[in-house]
Amino acid sequence: MKKTVQQLKALKGKEKLSMLTCYDYSFAKAIDGRADILLVGDSLGNVVLGFGGTQSVTMEDVLRHTGAVRRGAPETFIVGDLPFKAYENAKDAIANAKRLLEAGADAVKPEGKPDIVKALTDAGIPTMAHIGLLPQTAQKMSVVGRGEEGERLMQEAKAMEQAGAFSLVLETVPATLAKKITTSISIPTIGIGAGKDTDGQVLVLYDLLGLFPDFKPKFVRQYARLANLVRQAAASYSIDVKRGDFPSKEEWFE
Ligand code: KIV
Repeated sequence: MKKTVQQLKALKGKEKLSMLTCYDYSFAKAIDGRADILLVGDSLGNVVLGFGGTQSVTMEDVLRHTGAVRRGAPETFIVGDLPFKAYENAKDAIANAKRLLEAGADAVKPEGKPDIVKALTDAGIPTMAHIGLLPQTAQKMSVVGRGEEGERLMQEAKAMEQAGAFSLVLETVPATLAKKITTSISIPTIGIGAGKDTDGQVLVLYDLLGLFPDFKPKFVRQYARLANLVRQAAASYSIDVKRGDFPSKEEWFE
């Protein structure tokens, strides 16, 4: 059964949270009930749309994919990413967040910006915060929070808790810092490249399935090699077509 915000928060310290990104109906249907949270992430810009980044992802993109994931996963809590430029001010953030909820999301996730998180939660919108590496605005994709920067991240984490976020993504931060943040705040932390001591983990689905060919970050564990299967299936199909072996009479209508 779909978990509520209160149930997800109550799992802190008791049971780890599993979150996966998801972008479409068929994968959502396969995953429904097998993860605590599905994130319709703007990583869609990388792994589905091939933009090489997330800045080109629009509200319309995320709305369309959120609807698809909701139709496939009625029993799973869904977070919709607020894309780049969709939350430049509180008014836009609230209006766009409401559109995501109408499309089927249970909560939204902006990157950084505790003031926007506060505006969203004040408007009654369940909000997952996100600190550390922020792909929408990062200059380079590297670890965030080493040395003195760690204190800044700790303060940001506390600000997100104060702002009313119900959980916090920690992306690509040192494991020791992630552990310190996790024990310093009352809301669940969900790590990606943040070690094992966060309250939960998130991975990009296509990374975990071995479907995204461009690069494999150090923190990704591949549970399958689907790109190989796709290549083999496509090649076998083409051979069958060229030989006249497909279709066979069981596969056509008289
Ligand atoms: O868009 C995304 O996939 C994300 C995760 C990396 C947390 O925001």
